[in-house]
Amino acid sequence: MVKIAPSVLSADFGRLAAEVAKIEAAADLLHVDVMDGHFVPNLTIGPPVVEAIHRYTRLPLDVHLMLEAPERFVEAFARAGAASLTVHVEACPHLHRTIQQIHEAGVRAGVALNPATPIQTVEHILDQVDLLLVMSVNPGFGGQTFIPFSLAKIEALARRLDRGEPRPELEVDGGIHVENCLEVAEAGASILVAGSAVFGTTDPGAAVLQLRERAGEGYKKRRARRRVRV
Ligand code: DX5
Ligand code: ZN
Repeated sequence: MVKIAPSVLSADFGRLAAEVAKIEAAADLLHVDVMDGHFVPNLTIGPPVVEAIHRYTRLPLDVHLMLEAPERFVEAFARAGAASLTVHVEACPHLHRTIQQIHEAGVRAGVALNPATPIQTVEHILDQVDLLLVMSVNPGFGGQTFIPFSLAKIEALARRLDRGEPRPELEVDGGIHVENCLEVAEAGASILVAGSAVFGTTDPGAAVLQLRERAGEGYKKRRARRRVRV
């Protein structure tokens, strides 16, 4: 099935505990966007806030590091309670080493690709990572529009992952809404991040359930399609 990871970026930062409580029962993961003002043109939160969130939720913290040289902060975010740390391929000249460092810190390792970054850049580390994150907007802000060419990219990466073992999860982040989540899941996504589509609604918990149900239909369509092909 498809997991839903609400992004706290679109939550009310002044009432974070209450905001997370709204999706606690419905969500699978909590997506936490960390931005440094260099790699992306925005600043958000650091390890102390991740640690604070970790204290009042049982949801695994899916921490998305939009940082230059993220290896400087791997230990700090692992100590703060991250369940996974996802670094950008564009920000890591020594990506293989950074992945090892994340695993040594005892957390799951993810690698993210910006919209214009080809999937070939991760070819050699596919069997090293626990998840791959395809950005379907240019990172930095919530509430942007899904970039249409992302669908073909997700599909191509999912097909590639189908051929390998072990198979990392395929996460998609940016512009996910109830209107497009079926197609994104049908393309092969197994985790959907949703910020504004969850926290921008009057009932975030219900929004998560609706996303999961629609995405589940897409997941079934993909499986049916693949069964026909083989
Ligand atoms: C963007 C972040 C996303 C963002 C998604 O740089 O990585 O996680 O919160 O927000 P929506 O779902 O509103 O596009
Ligand atoms: Zn994100």
